[in-house]
Amino acid sequence: MGQLRFLTGGESHGRGLVAIVEGMVADLPLEEGYINKELKRRQQGYGRGPRMKIEEDKAEIMAGVRYGLTTGSPLALFITNRDWPNWQEQLSISPVEKDVEPVTCPRPGHADLAGVVKYGLKDIRPIMERASARETAARVAVGAIARRFLEELGIGIHSHTVAIGQHQWERKEASSINWQKVEASPVRCAHAKLEKAMMAAIDEAKANGDTLGGIFEVIANGVPIGLGSHVSWDRRLDGRIAQAIMSINAVKGVEIGEGFALAELKGSQAHDVIEPGSPSVIASEAKQSLPWQRATNRAGGIEGGMSNGEDIIIRAAVKPIATLASPLPSIDLRSGEVAKAHYERSDVCVVPAAGVIAEAMLAIVLADACLEKFGGDNLKETLANYRNYLRNIS
Ligand SMILES: Cc1cc2nc3c(=O)[nH]c(=O)nc-3n(C[C@H](O)[C@H](O)[C@H](O)COP(=O)(O)O)c2cc1C
Repeated sequence: MGQLRFLTGGESHGRGLVAIVEGMVADLPLEEGYINKELKRRQQGYGRGPRMKIEEDKAEIMAGVRYGLTTGSPLALFITNRDWPNWQEQLSISPVEKDVEPVTCPRPGHADLAGVVKYGLKDIRPIMERASARETAARVAVGAIARRFLEELGIGIHSHTVAIGQHQWERKEASSINWQKVEASPVRCAHAKLEKAMMAAIDEAKANGDTLGGIFEVIANGVPIGLGSHVSWDRRLDGRIAQAIMSINAVKGVEIGEGFALAELKGSQAHDVIEPGSPSVIASEAKQSLPWQRATNRAGGIEGGMSNGEDIIIRAAVKPIATLASPLPSIDLRSGEVAKAHYERSDVCVVPAAGVIAEAMLAIVLADACLEKFGGDNLKETLANYRNYLRNIS
């Protein structure tokens, strides 16, 4: 990350989560309510565990905002873990008198085994507390700040569920999505028949003590041409987005545009023809500035490590959750003997929530890339540079 940086701290069942965000412009209107709306979206989704009923995430802005506007100083956020009172002994900062039972049976598919070995611990608890996707609540809060900034530039970001288990949209069917329907759907899927099949599959997995993965898609519209760069590996926008999305817990594959499907096509079938003419009047400000149009968007809005003015389209594969109510075989690290993997209350399917987290990660990468391209220390300056750039495209 370049211009916009952030760091999170906090354990899954500790006092709370902290995030510090550095590099946001001054004078951006920002309210806690806006961030909390995003936190709520992350908590929803059919297949989440009972924890989501305990937590109702709310971010407190501790620094960096005055009278509803960012000041340009680092933004500090705090999200309370409502479950903390039940975990004060297990996660006490000071030593405790009582013997707390350690977790010693690592879950296959989790950070447990590599984590205890790497950090030289006898108890898996500290590893599972930080590897937990609870941390992504802090990322979604940071992503909300990035999203608020992108809105000022006319950039919008949405996500929806493309597959849960075997139940998958055809790519063609997914091209024009009703976002209101997505937001109203318990699995974030606008396809009514598939939605039902996905929910039934989640019910079945749950009844069998099992879990399910799937695929989500994230789309950014209104993105100006020229974010990122072809000149160096670490400035490529596709690489930066892939890293951000892949960093989400349980994500195991990321593709941009037609991604893996492109591997089967010939060059004449794979690329997006450039045509004379201009995009329609209902197109975004960024798109209207282009004196040409593209016949298709198989590239998913990125060519040569730069945004090309089309929508950015990302898909990611989410593996099934590793904590199973019918636990997988493992060993007890104390004895080396066969044992069942550790189980504690857990989600059955997190694909819809992972999509919301991916929106946040994409917002952070795009906000960073916009700040890098257009600069500015306050919103007015950034917007002036942005509009000047759009005016000069020919
Ligand atoms: C929104 C969300 C919620 C998750 N909830 C759980 C959970 O309840 N139980 C679990 O074992 N894993 C859960 N995970 C996945 C684990 O955090 C993840 O598999 C683990 O940290 C290992 O990392 P890896 O899968 O990326 O290799 C969740 C992931 C996401 C995105």
